[in-house]
Amino acid sequence: MSIVYWSDAQRGQIWQAWLAQVAPDIDMYLWPETGDPDKVRYLVTWEIPDNLLTRFPHLEVIFSVGAGADQFTANQVPHGINVVRMIEPGLMDDMAAYITFSVISLHRGMPRYLRQQQQQQWLKHEAIAASRCRIGLLGFGNLGQASAQVLTTLGYPCSGWSRTQKHIEAVTSYFGDDQLADFLSSCDILVCLLPLTDLTRGLLNRDLFKQLPKGACLVHAGRGQQLNHQDLLDALDSGQISHAIIDVTDPEPLQADHPFWTHPSIWLTPHIASETHAETSVKVLLDNIRRHQQGLTMVGLVDMKRGY
Ligand code: NAP
Ligand code: GLV
Repeated sequence: MSIVYWSDAQRGQIWQAWLAQVAPDIDMYLWPETGDPDKVRYLVTWEIPDNLLTRFPHLEVIFSVGAGADQFTANQVPHGINVVRMIEPGLMDDMAAYITFSVISLHRGMPRYLRQQQQQQWLKHEAIAASRCRIGLLGFGNLGQASAQVLTTLGYPCSGWSRTQKHIEAVTSYFGDDQLADFLSSCDILVCLLPLTDLTRGLLNRDLFKQLPKGACLVHAGRGQQLNHQDLLDALDSGQISHAIIDVTDPEPLQADHPFWTHPSIWLTPHIASETHAETSVKVLLDNIRRHQQGLTMVGLVDMKRGY
């Protein structure tokens, strides 16, 4: 039984060395090495290669190297093959840190203070208590909950919006389309951590922005296709949104003349909010392979019909 790994070589080498020590019954090959293709049961990748079942006729599971699985379309995944996405502590900690950094920067007025520095202006503004800055996590799954855990510790009132109701201490749960408007009206800083699906594509648009309190901020670390760029620019122009921190765009990178690069009220980062850590994720991979071998449900199993 073997695994083929088809992604970042440095991470692959760390995984290969660790698995060789702790799971000598599993052979891991780094693409283009595959060993005997008939023995390959697991593929770890970001993209699905062409002719998947011709290459690996006994493949059983595709593991995404990332938290998202939207890069795999349902018709690329042969019937009967499971898809599993990455849920691992390194990736969750990084996202919680990125969201916390963004929230604190916005709450403490850093965009304005950086502009003042450029103008050599020494001017203090009233500091609002964290308890008066309401954070809304649009998409309240693994990454949203990991972020809320840190933010509530810092005193920020948090709410989360998801498809199904959540019961998380100190966080208000809103769920379903019917509760979206109430959720949005209670967000001084809206953080998008939704997966990309047919239902979330284009969701960050004019209609949604106008349901936020005037002058709210946006942090977008979901997927680029969820955001309507022109609608964000209009919302910034009108003051409906006062500042946006954007980590994901469509396309990535944006064209050289795209207004986001130079907009005074946008901070743009190149899809770095969080990444899979080699050391922590390999343990999660092995645990899932063992679960699969024992006929147990794997952690992070994707429902391809639902899209996440
Ligand atoms: P997750 O655990 O699957 O959480 C997704 C959340 O979104 C869940 O709460 C889900 O609700 C909710 N949701 C999905 N569709 C919805 C809909 N139509 N209406 C309402 N709620 C909906 O995923 P995750 O691990 O937190 O990751 C979230 C996303 O973050 C990834 O898919 C990826 O796009 C993005 N990401 C970005 C980076 C980066 O560096 N920028 C890194 C990693 C991940 P239920 O819980 O009720 O199903
Ligand atoms: C990164 O965006 C991921 O999905 O892990």
